[in-house]
Amino acid sequence: MTNAPVWVELNAASLESMRCCGISNPAHPGRLRKIGWLKQHFKKGLRAKILLAPDGRQCGYIEYLPGEYAWRGVDAAGYLFIHCIWTHFRKYQGLGLAKEVVEACVKEARENGMKGVAVVARDGPWLAGPELFLACGFEVAETAPPDYRLLVRKFNASAANPKFVGGWDEKLKKYDGGLTIIHSAQCPYAEKFTAEIAETAEQEFGVKPRIVELKSHRDAQKAPTPYAVFSIIRDGRLLADHQISRTRFRNLMREKSKSRQSRPRRLERTIRRSPR
Ligand SMILES: CC(C)(COP(=O)(O)OP(=O)(O)OC[C@H]1O[C@@H](n2cnc3c(N)ncnc32)[C@H](O)[C@@H]1OP(=O)(O)O)[C@@H](O)C(=O)NCCC(=O)NCCS
Repeated sequence: MTNAPVWVELNAASLESMRCCGISNPAHPGRLRKIGWLKQHFKKGLRAKILLAPDGRQCGYIEYLPGEYAWRGVDAAGYLFIHCIWTHFRKYQGLGLAKEVVEACVKEARENGMKGVAVVARDGPWLAGPELFLACGFEVAETAPPDYRLLVRKFNASAANPKFVGGWDEKLKKYDGGLTIIHSAQCPYAEKFTAEIAETAEQEFGVKPRIVELKSHRDAQKAPTPYAVFSIIRDGRLLADHQISRTRFRNLMREKSKSRQSRPRRLERTIRRSPR
């Protein structure tokens, strides 16, 4: 293919001048934090590549690292773990560019004597769907509600599969009593969403949320959701397991409040109907 986009490896020097997940503003707080986060993780074996279009625009991204350091709710030690992958602009999709970079990742894992490659996929937003990985020979190792799939491409059938860490409900209960927003620098957009949700919660619902920043891969692997790096929890229940808009947040808060208000009414009816 002529004039095709190419995958370019990022390093500590080059990433300062590149778009970061589509963000070019050098003063963008999430971008600055993500750059710091990437620099730290290069030392742990992380690799990041951007897909550069012939006109210099970023039209894709992949980030992967040794599974021990995965910022997801997984135990994927020994596997190379893909955090995120995306391609952008319709004209560059469906050309096999994502497949090419996933295959390169598989080759790298094989050459480094790893057990294989693992990834968390879902049908919902903020993670790629499973189709790309299935097309690259991955298999589903485990699922987690509501739509998460942990996929793996193993080099040795007898190797132990990567696992979700699980125990989600127990972990959620630790965030009982109020509103909590969990975020991390792994996603450069998480900070902006956190600030917006916190502001909306305070100004429109009179609730000051507790903000928890995941500071290490260990924190992320103990988070109460498989995606790990962003969630909103209300009274120990999951309100959202990915970044959401202010409007979605408002609607969820109102839905939850309505369902709470309707509970005593139902109870009242039950009491009224009960025989004396
Ligand atoms: C998934 C994604 C990376 C695929 O990129 P792409 O460059 O179009 O993929 P490719 O052209 O390399 O396709 C690879 C294979 O996956 C399959 N595939 C990818 N997405 C598919 C889908 N949604 N449904 C069915 N098949 C799909 C293709 O059919 C192809 O298989 P084939 O070679 O057997 O025909 C792209 O659609 C995307 O970026 N989606 C959003 C991902 C996302 O949200 N990431 C998190 C961002 S924070």
